[in-house]
Amino acid sequence: MTTTDLIIIGGGPGGYEAAGYAAKHGLNVVIIERGNVGGTCLNVGCIPTKTWCHEADVLRARLSADPQATIDFQHVRQRQTEVVTLLRGGIETLLSAPNIRLVKGEAQFVDGHTVTTGDETFTAPNIIIATGSEAKMPPIGQLDKYRIMTSSELLAIDHVPESLVIIGAGVIGMEFASIFQTFGSEVTVIEYLKECLPMLDSDIAKRLRKSMEKRGITFHMQAGVTAITAEGVTFERKGKAQTINAEAILVATGRKPCLEQLHLEAAGVDFTPKGITVDAQFRTSATGIYAIGDVNGQMMLAHAASMQGIRAVNQILGLTDHIQFDIMPSAIFTYPEAASVGASEDHCKEQVQGYNCLKGYYRANGKAVSMDETEGMVKLLTNTEGQLIGCHAYGAHSADMIQELSSLMCMGVTVSQLRDMIHIHPTLGEILHAASMNS
Ligand code: NAI
Repeated sequence: MTTTDLIIIGGGPGGYEAAGYAAKHGLNVVIIERGNVGGTCLNVGCIPTKTWCHEADVLRARLSADPQATIDFQHVRQRQTEVVTLLRGGIETLLSAPNIRLVKGEAQFVDGHTVTTGDETFTAPNIIIATGSEAKMPPIGQLDKYRIMTSSELLAIDHVPESLVIIGAGVIGMEFASIFQTFGSEVTVIEYLKECLPMLDSDIAKRLRKSMEKRGITFHMQAGVTAITAEGVTFERKGKAQTINAEAILVATGRKPCLEQLHLEAAGVDFTPKGITVDAQFRTSATGIYAIGDVNGQMMLAHAASMQGIRAVNQILGLTDHIQFDIMPSAIFTYPEAASVGASEDHCKEQVQGYNCLKGYYRANGKAVSMDETEGMVKLLTNTEGQLIGCHAYGAHSADMIQELSSLMCMGVTVSQLRDMIHIHPTLGEILHAASMNS
């Protein structure tokens, strides 16, 4: 049996960041990973998809000069491998610090302080579970890896399908719809809800969807998929059933936490199908055991997992932090990009008396016009005291813009203070300033 200070199960952005941070603070760490380090984000999520987004941007630029331009998909796959390998090497270096040991294997709890990987057993006073999530398959058919795929399988495809049906207009569905339409596939999206991307301001989400429709993506909204068979995808809309077929079908109907292999009962850790139950410090029902990232089901975002890991390690070290988990920025890397932080106008209409919604437009911004990126808008939301409480946007580099607002919200800044902050000319950031001037 190996004794250490901290065991971390899972080597994704939650686990590896927590390991590095704990080691820097003097703890001896054992981190156990059954696959490649980097988790979903690096291997089959954020990073490969953002590499594909970049290749789609490059193709769009080429298409504007040459309408016959096509994608070299072998080059796309090669770059994907190079980028993932490079970043994986960086994480392996981080985890090669003298007081971190990376163990390859599948971890299972023996009791509340003991974990086994089959051939070795580890014990520690503190354990962080960071096992992430996997694609959730609704009861509408079977995946067959070649035609009916999750996002992981689609990222391993060796050619661009002529046609692609995507089930679900959430973050994964919308990002792949945008990428494959640019790559040349005929893309159809089927979504159960009235609007795509429910966490986004509905007005912004509608504008984004309309923009993607104009580019040639077909959307069937308020359409629930009931079956996937050899004949294709069957969905019901306004009481009518319809079936469409495609070369490839992506199921993007949400993700579920990876809990099954852990033997959580042996450690006395409470959980539901939605994830491991945690408090605000990410403590589980078992003393000394924490759960961070997708596995607790609170916020399925890589940066949320990393910051939850820092909070958990701070708890172990007896340190106080001021991380504001209620101010959680996020982005959707479609074309155009969309991003948000805090309250939407929909939320304010229902919940915030005396709110103000200030708008800024890309078409009125010098940098956006120079970049030929005039589509997009920003909505700033303030409360009656003028404090910034949310920002939702779509348009080029909107994620970077939302980051500024997120930082200002963390500092409790008001819209009149934002008005007094100088923004570089010409930048897209001036759209935020222009919106603040509208108050
Ligand atoms: P999601 O929960 O965001 O969206 C799934 C969509 O599928 C929903 O809109 C739902 O109404 C629809 N749906 C479910 N069953 C359906 C049916 N039978 N017929 C038609 N529509 C149906 O899930 P998604 O897109 O799979 O993403 C999973 C997680 O990964 C999310 O929490 C997301 O935040 C995270 N993620 C974040 C990214 C980012 O931050 N850029 C990128 C990719 C994923």
